[in-house]
Amino acid sequence: MSPRTPVTFNVAPGGRLEGRIQVPGDKSISHRFVMLSAIADGASSASGFLQGEDTVATANAFRVMGVEVEGPDNGRLRVDGVGLRGLSAPAAALDLGNSGTAMRLLAGILAGQEFDSRLTGDASLSRRPMTRVTEPLRMMGARIDTAVAGTPPVKIHAAGGPLRAIEYTLPVASAQVKSCLLLAGLYAHGQTCVIEPVATRDHTERMLAAFGHRVRISGQRICIDGGGRLRGVNMAIPGDISSAAFFMLGASIAKGSDVLLEGVGVNPTRTGVIEILSLMGADIELQNRRDAGGEPVADIRVRSSRLRGIEVPESLVPRAIDEFPVVFVAAACAEGETRVTGASELRVKESDRIAATAAGLKLLGIDAEPTGDGMRIKGGQMGGGRVDSQGDHRIAMAFAMAALAAGESVEIEDCANVDTSFPGFAALAASTGLEIKADGARL
Ligand code: S3P
Repeated sequence: MSPRTPVTFNVAPGGRLEGRIQVPGDKSISHRFVMLSAIADGASSASGFLQGEDTVATANAFRVMGVEVEGPDNGRLRVDGVGLRGLSAPAAALDLGNSGTAMRLLAGILAGQEFDSRLTGDASLSRRPMTRVTEPLRMMGARIDTAVAGTPPVKIHAAGGPLRAIEYTLPVASAQVKSCLLLAGLYAHGQTCVIEPVATRDHTERMLAAFGHRVRISGQRICIDGGGRLRGVNMAIPGDISSAAFFMLGASIAKGSDVLLEGVGVNPTRTGVIEILSLMGADIELQNRRDAGGEPVADIRVRSSRLRGIEVPESLVPRAIDEFPVVFVAAACAEGETRVTGASELRVKESDRIAATAAGLKLLGIDAEPTGDGMRIKGGQMGGGRVDSQGDHRIAMAFAMAALAAGESVEIEDCANVDTSFPGFAALAASTGLEIKADGARL
């Protein structure tokens, strides 16, 4: 990816959020849509596809492997599937930018191909652990290497025949590892089973079923047969609850707010943030529940409320794994103390989200104490200052919303990566009342 102009958010303190908005399409579902439609037979099309850098990088990776992809254009994407065995050898390394999902899921598909491939990413992705997928893929017979530290680049050698089906119990709660192995299972001889001790997002399972490939689920055991074929589909991708979460935070902490987030995915494996904020006293109401593309969808109304500190139940952590920057900022605005435990995975996300958020909160005058697997935060009045997002999109957006409850303006550095998941965030937030300026951003 080409180097980008640095972006700084300048956000004025106070104000309130109001209006009806639609957040961009779900990132997890958009990645999976490109991948499954590329290896399906026939054409597929989606509306609501996330036009962010991460998902566009995934689409480009398949273009490099000979798949015709049109768009995304206004959220519309059309893919001419080449079938399970129709991908062609990439002439260059596949650059997946900032996206762990793209790299880990693609590794599963590529492990079964009869060609070599090499997966690279940006500085953040190049620090992230890949052995969690390469180890089980090797058990399946894949020939796959990483750098010495178990990090990218990931080199995958031609499979030389079908992979071996395995039964694998996930050592970490990870939808990416689960999905990687299910996708590799398409290229294995026999039935591949993944056992997940704690439920994680199930978009891969739902989407495989939508593409006509049977997935057998009994309790925490998910099994798939190798071979067969996927059939192209038309799909409406719901709004991303992880993007909606920033507005849930903003509307909750800014007095007098009332926001309606339309058409947001409310898959139960993703709604942990609603449950955590509700336990803290947030006023969040789900309206007009419906179904789209095999996924539950609703409009979410959020009004301001007084938040109180809680002990976040560990059982909710995997279902809110991307929303902890939001939860930590909510805790800073709550009365009393909040404790998060059992969330050590946050240390290996796009940044170390425990360290990055604790540093930002402290800078704004909040008593936040990071622990190995979480944080203890005492709610209080935030001041202003210059926070480093550490290039992490979700840290940047959570601190932009924090300004609503701050006494002085908040500047957030290194925000260009907001475009990986939420292009147009600053403009959409401004349309609801956040006084935000994005210096250096593309127009
Ligand atoms: C994702 C799974 C989660 C999440 C990530 C997207 C996915 O990662 O943090 O943003 O699309 O499967 P892990 O599976 O590593 O927890």
